[in-house]
Amino acid sequence: MSFQNEIICGESVKTLKTISEGSIDLIVTDPPYGVNYRDRTGRKVKNDDDLRFVLPVFEQAFRALKQDSYCISFYGWNKADLFLKAWKDAGFRVVGHLVWTKNYASRTGVVKYHHEQAYVLAKGRPSRPKNPIADVLPWTATGNRAHPTEKAVQSLTPLIWSFSKPGELVCDPFAGSGSTCVAAALAGRNYLGIELEDKYCTHARKRLSGVERYMATKERKQAA
Ligand SMILES: C[S@@+](CC[C@H](N)C(=O)[O-])C[C@H]1O[C@@H](n2cnc3c(N)ncnc32)[C@H](O)[C@@H]1O
Repeated sequence: MSFQNEIICGESVKTLKTISEGSIDLIVTDPPYGVNYRDRTGRKVKNDDDLRFVLPVFEQAFRALKQDSYCISFYGWNKADLFLKAWKDAGFRVVGHLVWTKNYASRTGVVKYHHEQAYVLAKGRPSRPKNPIADVLPWTATGNRAHPTEKAVQSLTPLIWSFSKPGELVCDPFAGSGSTCVAAALAGRNYLGIELEDKYCTHARKRLSGVERYMATKERKQAA
């Protein structure tokens, strides 16, 4: 089956299994980091306490991706070994690493935590982006209003522009509040988001219908 411009509410291993092999052009995703995160108000992230329900998603993500394409995945730095093993076992090659620098510390432990990070993974031998981005990028805080670990659309947009083309299908199998899908839709790409929790699916769908209205108005104005 092929899906396009949808937020599917469900578990990603099961959902990706229903998607035709080689039908996704790019994956940009932000999985639970495996750190049992709890914010100041007590909100948690589903499966963040057990990566056994997270890491198997990458095997199906690999299958659903086109040959010679990219997957960009955030990860928890203190679980890097587990993420790298899962990605390599799935068949991915590690081809880049991205760091977003924060001008504030999200936490203080042994050091002050001032960055987020993601790996750039390849299925096969994709061609290099025409406009490669720097591997150190500025971070934009969201305030995490809709989701406890919400990423800013501005942080994801450069990835979409550099690693995909207009009209291609960008998938986020850990979609949360839908930030990747919003970035993809605003860049003229098709999107597919998969998310376990109903409340985030509802929020993501609302955001995406706002983007679709905005894009339709923009197109009408350009045509006039
Ligand atoms: C780190 S959050 C993503 C936040 C997102 N980047 C945003 O900007 O809102 C990870 C999301 O993955 C979802 N999730 C966890 N395990 C999942 C699974 N096996 N299948 C689908 N979604 C899953 C969680 O409910 C959570 O919303």
